[in-house]
Amino acid sequence: MGDVFIKNCQVLENRQLMEGTYLMRLRAPEIAAAAKPGQFVMVRTGSEPLEGGPLLRRPFSLHRLNSSGEISLLYRVIGVGTRIMGGVEPGRELEIMGPLGRGFDFSEAKEQSYLVAGGIGLAPMIALAEAMGDRKSKFFYGARTSKEVDVFLALIRQTPYEGELVLTSEDGLKAAKGMVTGPLAVALEEEPAQLFACGPRLMLARVAVLAREAGVRAQVSLEANMACGLGACLSCAVERASGEESGPVYSRVCFEGPVFFAEEVRW
Ligand SMILES: Cc1cc2nc3c(=O)[nH]c(=O)nc-3n(C[C@H](O)[C@H](O)[C@H](O)COP(=O)(O)OP(=O)(O)OC[C@H]3O[C@@H](n4cnc5c(N)ncnc54)[C@H](O)[C@@H]3O)c2cc1C
Ligand code: FES
Repeated sequence: MGDVFIKNCQVLENRQLMEGTYLMRLRAPEIAAAAKPGQFVMVRTGSEPLEGGPLLRRPFSLHRLNSSGEISLLYRVIGVGTRIMGGVEPGRELEIMGPLGRGFDFSEAKEQSYLVAGGIGLAPMIALAEAMGDRKSKFFYGARTSKEVDVFLALIRQTPYEGELVLTSEDGLKAAKGMVTGPLAVALEEEPAQLFACGPRLMLARVAVLAREAGVRAQVSLEANMACGLGACLSCAVERASGEESGPVYSRVCFEGPVFFAEEVRW
């Protein structure tokens, strides 16, 4: 992890994209300049913890980074912290800590790559798609509903990404019906390629199996409950695949992750 900043950042925009899902843009020049796709920030959602806001900061992936000093977060309202975030008016400042953790390593991505996202796991994958530039890649996105498909298309079209899009949704209305790992498995059989993925744990576990079967490597971005975000409290520990004889070995999602090679994780 490189330099970490704690800054009061002005909210430039906080827009509802669909029921319960928001896009927040903030002015955060130091963080934007230092961050890499797959890294995250911790957001203090309540400026007054004793007056109802949560004491602990909440982790969010960097959804977009730009050279003019802005960052974006794509977030779903889950509980108290994200509910407060949803009500933040542009112009207000939020305390942001970051960039944190280990992001995606796409330095070797010279051949074909597959980017795989499920649901709100889309957030860091858009930053990665953007950073990969003209490297050859396909973007697999699994949505629950057709509305989520619309939101995805609107977000990806704001980027210069030109790779092929492969879309699925559970309702099958505007995309192929089913899970995104279905077409991913077919693509891996036809043309094995390295994988980058973020989404629900079950999806990532399936991605790990598909990668192993295809003989390719997968980098997966994990979530965990976090308190400090800095590697100190161990609240975000996940078990590693290669336990020692003396017992299981753990990694901190906030510090060794959130991006891991799939074979590093005990699924
Ligand atoms: C590295 C990292 C990156 C993340 N990036 C994003 C992102 O880009 N966009 C985004 O929307 N979220 C992201 N999350 C998840 C986000 O941090 C949580 O949704 C948020 O902390 C919830 O805070 P809250 O105060 O609203 O909910 P809380 O009040 O803390 O929780 C309410 C309830 O929901 C449960 N809960 C908490 N988090 C989740 C979850 N993720 N899924 C299901 N149940 C949950 C809690 O156990 C509790 O029961 C990320 C998490 C990590 C670790
Ligand atoms: S959140 Fe404290 S060690 Fe990861």
